[in-house]
Amino acid sequence: MQFKKVANFARVIKLGYKHLNQMKELKRTKIKALLESNNFGDIINVRGWVRTKRSSKNVAFITLNDGSTIHNIQIVIDLSEHGEESIQFIHSGAALSVNGELIESPGSGQNVELNAKEFTILGKADPEEYPLQPKKHSLEFLREKAHLRFRTNTFGAIARVRHSMIFAIHKFFNDKGFYNIHTPIITGSDAEGAGEMFRVTVLDPKSPPLNEDKSVNYKEDFFGKETNLTVSGQLEAELAALALSEVYTFGPTFRAENSNTTRHLAEFWMIEPEMAFYDINDDMDLAEEMLKFLIRYALEHCADDLAFLSKRQQDEDKNKKQEDRAPMELIEKLNFVLKNDFARITYTEAIEILKNSKPNKKNKFQFPVDKWGVDMQSEHERYLVEKHFEKPVIVTGYPKDIKAFYMKVNEDDKTVRAMDVLFPQIGEIIGGSQREENYDVLLKRMREMNVPEKEMWWYLETRKFGTVPHSGFGLGFERLIQFITGMGNIRDVIPFPRTPQNAEF
Ligand code: 4AD
Ligand code: MG
Repeated sequence: MQFKKVANFARVIKLGYKHLNQMKELKRTKIKALLESNNFGDIINVRGWVRTKRSSKNVAFITLNDGSTIHNIQIVIDLSEHGEESIQFIHSGAALSVNGELIESPGSGQNVELNAKEFTILGKADPEEYPLQPKKHSLEFLREKAHLRFRTNTFGAIARVRHSMIFAIHKFFNDKGFYNIHTPIITGSDAEGAGEMFRVTVLDPKSPPLNEDKSVNYKEDFFGKETNLTVSGQLEAELAALALSEVYTFGPTFRAENSNTTRHLAEFWMIEPEMAFYDINDDMDLAEEMLKFLIRYALEHCADDLAFLSKRQQDEDKNKKQEDRAPMELIEKLNFVLKNDFARITYTEAIEILKNSKPNKKNKFQFPVDKWGVDMQSEHERYLVEKHFEKPVIVTGYPKDIKAFYMKVNEDDKTVRAMDVLFPQIGEIIGGSQREENYDVLLKRMREMNVPEKEMWWYLETRKFGTVPHSGFGLGFERLIQFITGMGNIRDVIPFPRTPQNAEF
């Protein structure tokens, strides 16, 4: 937007005419670039939202943020020159366009500031109504203001880290020669068994067409069959991998589980690589390499935001009980994961460790571990990672009865080539497996687990035509962001969380 156009509809306060002609031509400079500049004396245009305003008799200081960085630029307005009324409509949350001279800052806390020559209020914010006054707000409060919470330091930092991680994921796979595949969001198969699904229909809920037995006749629905939102892109990614060798999906997934936890969303994003000719060990190697690449990328590209998030976590921890505090400072934790090989153990070994663990013997687990075959709960996963191994753990060889039909059955016919990557504070961050490539075994597993084989004809056919060993996994994007940012609740690492009873915004 050109300054001239802005002047047409917004209130313009002119502060000094010296550079006016020059200013009208000014292009906006982002605050990030400005803070890195030392071209003192330059006349610059910045635009952004007011964080704070303070004024004394002769001078006003306004901090402005435009989202390009966690840091603000300080705008200095000489009131003796421009009059006190010039700042009467500037409040937290208002949007400003400022032309000014870049000067070396005499104050501490910043290197440069902008000596305002001329500015425009692009959008006012009534201080009686604007909810984000410059003070600390609870995360719960901010969840109810999700339309504005991007404007806080915390949510600005998270949004930037999230973006960097999206970019890094595509870079990681692109550099390795993987192809990104778009798998369908609306799916006709209910085969994953990964969770309850959300139905997609255009039928009138009040009077749907009925079959003779009074069941809903989905033949009359939009797609002529029952459809749902996908819980995973894996099955379709497998089809692509069996031609393109190495592919990945990165899409939204939907699960209608009623689990109100700090690690579950009804709508979340998942990265699912799928690789032909990979066995379970190759799969684990790729998962570990990828997680380390992403953490290193965050450390290198998000240093300012991570420093802020680290300090934030330490401040929060001051009000927490010792056992609820983060065991390690955020950046130290990220470096720690980089430096150490992940532990790799079997499910059977994990159960032995858990059975003999102190919390199990002292009945401290909510779900006691008494026998081989039980599913591991998050408390068990975290015990293994945080207390026993004190580093990330990959567990393989889970009982086939608690895992999906497509996982390759081991020679013992009891366990499958599954692998879960467990992280501190998060628990399961990745779930994956080698896939069953043998047609007969796969069909048998489908029948055992009541997977509709007729509907899945296309999946089965790939095992008839040129089947090969292949593997893949799913990384929960929001869980990754939780780990990188240190945020305790998954609702705070996605802009607009979808959880039971909550789809506002
Ligand atoms: O373990 P899951 O269910 O695995 C699959 O869906 C496989 N199809 C993946 C594959 O092999 N291609 O989910 C994978 C990951 C979990 O480890 C977790 O990080 C995340 O997705 N996840 C969730 N994240 C947020 N909210 C939920 N409700 C989640 N459910 C799973
Ligand atoms: Mg899983």
